[in-house]
Amino acid sequence: MEILIKNGNIINPDNSQILDILIQNGHIAQVGKNLKVAVSQTRVIDASDRYIFPGGIDPHVHLHLPTPAGFSSDDFYSGSRAALFGGTTTLIDFVTPHRGQSLVDALVERKAEAASSLIATYFHVSPVEWRDSTADEILECVHEYGIKSFKCYMAYKNNIGLDDDDLFKVMLVVGKAGGLVMLHCEDGDAIERLRHQYAQREMPAAKAHLMSRPPELEAEAVKTAIALAKKAKCPIYIVHVSSLLSLAHIKEAQKNGQQVYAETCPQYLLLDKSKYDLDFEKAAAFVMSPPLRTTTDNEALWEALAKGSIATVGTDHCPFMLKQKMVGKSDFRKIPNGAGGIEHRLALLFSYGYLKNKINLQRFVDLTSTRASQIFGLFPQKGILAEGANADLLIWNPKTANIISSQSHHQNCDLNIYEGFPTIGHPEIVIADGKIRIENGKLI
Ligand code: URP
Ligand code: ZN
Repeated sequence: MEILIKNGNIINPDNSQILDILIQNGHIAQVGKNLKVAVSQTRVIDASDRYIFPGGIDPHVHLHLPTPAGFSSDDFYSGSRAALFGGTTTLIDFVTPHRGQSLVDALVERKAEAASSLIATYFHVSPVEWRDSTADEILECVHEYGIKSFKCYMAYKNNIGLDDDDLFKVMLVVGKAGGLVMLHCEDGDAIERLRHQYAQREMPAAKAHLMSRPPELEAEAVKTAIALAKKAKCPIYIVHVSSLLSLAHIKEAQKNGQQVYAETCPQYLLLDKSKYDLDFEKAAAFVMSPPLRTTTDNEALWEALAKGSIATVGTDHCPFMLKQKMVGKSDFRKIPNGAGGIEHRLALLFSYGYLKNKINLQRFVDLTSTRASQIFGLFPQKGILAEGANADLLIWNPKTANIISSQSHHQNCDLNIYEGFPTIGHPEIVIADGKIRIENGKLI
């Protein structure tokens, strides 16, 4: 199918121009002025008064994640469908083996689970232990399966987390192989002690979750990770940065020339810890790790987005139904951690970032697409509107008003942490791999 998009305001990370885009065979064939249709069946779309953005890339998604409270409630079909409605055309999920399983076997298994995804789907692989074979498994993932990023958890030490010695071993191998280590930074041992202490106290469950994961323990882990990575000469990407304290270490490392990338998520920009004062049925939706912080942290993160010390905005999309959250009503340690957001990332960033003058449109594109593409090895096929790139793009109406609600969202969840949030702007037409996937509010 050939598509000609006329007169759209094409936004790339380094420029914006009103031009036409011709799409052929899944790729952007031409970008220019007054382009003419090449064949008679060409679909011509007038995009006057619309922005054209590169399709969103969400680098942090947990679809169909197994937990003791059941799987996260979006599987690869429903989660990718919600992503498309929100303008995300590529996602990167995780391969989390169980201890004793090889990374490669887990990767093959996870790829099969993701077969129902409607959009381009890639993976970060998580070494959850160090075994004699781990170095070879990492290298096989890199060389045979094109994996670039390996996610390690400094929290959750009793099942998937690594101690510092093993983390260092992973960094040495990954760094040498030209890859990147992603990190969930929270000091797992200290948090485990606090969780035990708070479990003995009379306290609302969501509040106990908050109290057991203070920002100091995130920042301490960030500091340790940066020091280990420096010694191992390994680039790192710190996921879901939530606090001002962590940012200070990240900025310092970046100033010293270390390859340290940081990601935050809309929830850490727009929500704060007052949510944990609500009744359990409401507060449980916001139980995630790290927890929500203060409005001062929110503002510091916005500033870091604008100035560039934060490279990307991912969602950490990991929704659970209320009945799954209820599992932890009398023991906060059993509340499944996570919340959904894959559908709302672009509209939230457009409404509360661009329209509130916190970031410009170039930065919007960089944060939602281009930087993730570059960091995770998808560039220049993805994340840019240029000749030869994959035709993943959004025709964005900047004027439409919407109110986020679990009644109308496409995520498979009866909760929405952005319930009632007004947004402006939405992707009227979503094109992925050269095909129209969303038009007139419908999946095609
Ligand atoms: O609370 C969260 N973030 N849940 C998803 C798993 C993780 O920790 O990334
Ligand atoms: Zn996550």
